[in-house]
Formats: sequence, C-alpha cells, structure tokens
Amino acid sequence: MLERIERIGKEAAAAIEAATGTTALEELRVYYLGRKAELTTILRGIADLSQEDRGSIGSGANRIRQELEALLERRAAELDAAELETRLAADRIDVTLPGAPVRPAGHLHLITRTTRQIEDVMIGLGYRVVEGPEIEHDYYNFTALNHPPGHPARMLQDTFYVQSHPELLLRTHTSPVQVRAMEVQPPPIFMIVPGKVYRRDSDATHSPMFHQVEGLAIGEGITLADLQGTLEEMLKAIFGEGREARMRPHFFPFTEPSVEFDVSCFQCEGTGVLVGGERCNLCKGIGWIEVGGAGMVDPNVLGFVESNGYDPEQVQGFAFGMGVERIAMLRHGVPDLRRFFDNDVRMLEQFP
Ligand code: PHE
Repeated sequence: MLERIERIGKEAAAAIEAATGTTALEELRVYYLGRKAELTTILRGIADLSQEDRGSIGSGANRIRQELEALLERRAAELDAAELETRLAADRIDVTLPGAPVRPAGHLHLITRTTRQIEDVMIGLGYRVVEGPEIEHDYYNFTALNHPPGHPARMLQDTFYVQSHPELLLRTHTSPVQVRAMEVQPPPIFMIVPGKVYRRDSDATHSPMFHQVEGLAIGEGITLADLQGTLEEMLKAIFGEGREARMRPHFFPFTEPSVEFDVSCFQCEGTGVLVGGERCNLCKGIGWIEVGGAGMVDPNVLGFVESNGYDPEQVQGFAFGMGVERIAMLRHGVPDLRRFFDNDVRMLEQFP
C-alpha cells in the first residue's frame, strides 16, 4: 500500500511539473486530490485498516497529499505569472504612433473668439476680467440693481426661476456681477464681465441662452464723457478704425442717466446709402447700428455697497453691457443667431 502511495506521489509530481497551463493544472488537482481521487479514497479508508497499518499508511498518505498541495500551489504561481506575461506582451500598443486618421485640431467658436477680442481691448484699457455665477440670487440680479418689486423683467414670463428656490434664477444679464465685484473690491474698480445669460426668448435674433460682456468703471470724477470715449475705443477695436460711437437716451433701473449706444455703420460708412445708391440693408439707412445699453451707475446701486467705500458723494462711474452674438452677427453677416448653437460644423468652419 505504501509503495502504491509513493507511486501516486511521483506520478502526480511529474504531471504537475509538466503542466503547461492553469486549466490543465486544475484538472490535475481534481484528478489527484479531488473527492474521487485514489489518494483521497485511501485516506478515507484509514479507519478501517488494522492497527499497525493505520499509523504508517495514514502518515505516508497525508505527507504525499501535503507535498502535492505545496507543489500545485508553486506551479500555479509560476503558470499565472507566465500567462500574465504573455497577455501583456500580446496587448502591448505603441502609444507614440500617430492616431489614424489624423484629425484637424479645429478652432475656437466664433462667440469665444469675439468675447476674447473684446477682453483684449478692455484689458488694454486697464480693465480686469471678472466672472460671476449663472445661477444667481434675486438680490444681485434685481434688488441691488434698483429693480422695483413689480418690474416686468422680474416676471415669470421673462425670467427662468429655480422651482424649488423662488429666490434663485438664471441670471438675465451680467449686471449682477457689478454689485458682487464691488462687495469684494473697494474703489476704484475697472472690470469687464463676459458670460452666459438667460431669458425666456426664442427667435432669429433671440436665444434662451446668450452671451454678454458687462463693463464697470467706478472712481473719482468719472463722467459720461469717459463712457463715450471708452465705448468709442472699444467699438473701433471691434468694428474697425474710423468707427464712431453714439449714445441715445434710454432707461435702465440701475443707471441714471441711461443710454443705448450705437456704432456708425461699417457697411455704408455711416451714410445710410451704399455705393450704388441703394439704401444700406445693415443699418436700414440710418447710418448707425445699436450695440448695447449703458449709463452712469445709479447712486442707489452704490448705496448697496457703500460700506465698502462706494459713497455716492465720493465716487461715481459708468456701466455698459452688450450682446456678444449680436456683435458677431453684425461683423460676420450671420442672419440667424440660433445657428451659433446648432453645432453644425459646416457653419462653424466658416469662421476659422
Ligand atoms: N444689463 C443691461 C441689459 O442686459 C445692459 C446694461 C448694462 C445697461 C450696464 C446699462 C448698464 O439689457
């Protein structure tokens, strides 16, 4: 019997050494040490053996079983490592190869480019670029901007409110950043605010989301003439040398006086008439194109940040705001504002 056990041990050890894969090894484990294996049967039958055989055969069979278990474990580790090695070698890719086909890099969206162009001019005039949240508090969007409680802009049909928090809304303009910025920086302040704004509007010249650039300049002795000069510098940089700025009286709750500002038409040179004698279609024969709103910051607005040094008796200044899509449409003859957001590459590629 002992001889038989030794033979099983030798045979099994040789087979385990010769195994070439983890699956084959598992089959050997079942064959030599599984429930139906000869060695297992011997071990199970030990109790039935005579007193003198029990000791020697029992310890011999157990020893062989332990040896085989250790051998299986070692061989499994070897085969696992070898198989991993093979898999890694097979899956190796050369990350330095160029992707195929090579894709063109693309370019900035016309709205981004127009925004950056405005930023560049204003940075050149000493302004800083500031940003604010798109989900805004009613306080900054309306209250601190001097909007009376019943003002139409506050109504549900004009503004997107957050349903669960009626005091929160998608900002309807970039002007709320005026008060936010003045709360953290004492005067003087010269800043512009590019960003997305939201209104319940949708047609060829209005989209529920669009972009504005806000400007704010507060210090001592800043006047409406400074606003005129600043707008003119900015409009020249955007629409070309020789452009002029014009202000017309208007109304905004947070500026006093308030104006709308125009740029002289760059298609007809402000004459309203084209070379052939036809009426200019861009400015409709007026010679001026509306660009945005502006005005001297209302003392009531400064009153909300008076504790940070904005005493309306000491400092004053102007603010302006304009739509980026409108400027891009004018400059590049885009007839429908919604095309900017269709993500049709054929449209976007026209403005490299
Ligand atoms: N916030 C105004 C609008 O969206 C524009 C504006 C900005 C007017 C700053 C005056 C001063 O219509």
